[in-house]
Amino acid sequence: MITLGIETSCDETAAAVVKDGKVLSSAVSSSVHLHSQYGGVVPEIASRYHSEYMLPVVKEALAEAGCSPQNIDLVAVTKGPGLPGSLIVGLAFAKAISFARDIPLIGVDHLRAHLFSCFLGKGEECVIKDKFPFVGMVVSGGHTSIFKCLSVKDLEVIGRTKDDAVGEAYDKVARVLGLGYPGGPAVEKRAAGYIGGKTIGFPRAMLDGSAGLDFSFSGLKTAVLYYWRDSDKTEVEKSRICRAFQEAIADVVDAKVKRAAHLAGCTRLAVGGGVINNEVLRARLTRSCKDEGIELFIPNREYCADNAAMVAVTGQLLYTAGERSDLYMGVCPTGACLS
Ligand code: KG4
Ligand code: ZN
Repeated sequence: MITLGIETSCDETAAAVVKDGKVLSSAVSSSVHLHSQYGGVVPEIASRYHSEYMLPVVKEALAEAGCSPQNIDLVAVTKGPGLPGSLIVGLAFAKAISFARDIPLIGVDHLRAHLFSCFLGKGEECVIKDKFPFVGMVVSGGHTSIFKCLSVKDLEVIGRTKDDAVGEAYDKVARVLGLGYPGGPAVEKRAAGYIGGKTIGFPRAMLDGSAGLDFSFSGLKTAVLYYWRDSDKTEVEKSRICRAFQEAIADVVDAKVKRAAHLAGCTRLAVGGGVINNEVLRARLTRSCKDEGIELFIPNREYCADNAAMVAVTGQLLYTAGERSDLYMGVCPTGACLS
């Protein structure tokens, strides 16, 4: 089965072709450069970009896979959560192909796709099938949630952020420090450049057992704001703050996700989403999971940020598991209507 995946939930216009669980192509065009001057994604600009670039990106994905629209058996599209205007562009495009070719359409939950991205390899079959049950975590710009994953269809939320997502905290800290948007890569680079040994004791919220598996990052963000306000505002101090902030995030994510694995009785852990691009977090989780005998799955770098390969593979798995969508499907911006 050949699946065309389409992803437009935020500021990446993406298309991919997947054959029987193997990624044949993955094309992404990002509008991030248009948002950087505003310090965050401007929804109207993102939707316009999608409507302009959707067709060229789909053509690129088909060409790289050596396919034509006639070869496609299934169209998988992100239906939410995400920006409403952005989601609508991708969904309308996917419906048009499904209708014109008279092939099935399947709507995909963006967070499920991030989780399943941990099991993708280019040209290799997705290895997820024999990995259930596992605990999955999504750390992205819009979401920080932990799931118990029992099957392709059966995911249960067992923890989530009460305020900011991890990526959002990175972006806000970067804005405070004047490091631009997106904040994650900029903060990581500054943190790596700090060679001094003096750290800052930023708060690690909700780490005691009573807080369960939920998160809160707004206190950390505010602590950075006040620390910077009262500092001597040197470049070295800026890098030191980035290093200390990044350590606080890694401590919290590491502790929570391992606690989740223990509570759920799982020895496998999958962590997906844009923030897992972060080298410090990748190394920390790799080391600590090894110490605890937990098998860790993190995505290849090209599948960390938003992409359509994860959408196509997830759609194909759902379709094979009996899930169906129709041409009357709407978008689900909040994610509340997703199963
Ligand atoms: O998954 P994603 O591409 O989009 C959403 O679904 O939100 O994640 C984007 C987020 C942004 O907040 C960005 O700052 C963060 O991922 N990010 C990083 C890194 N690269 C991207 N955060 C920390 N370190 C990075 N290297
Ligand atoms: Zn995402």
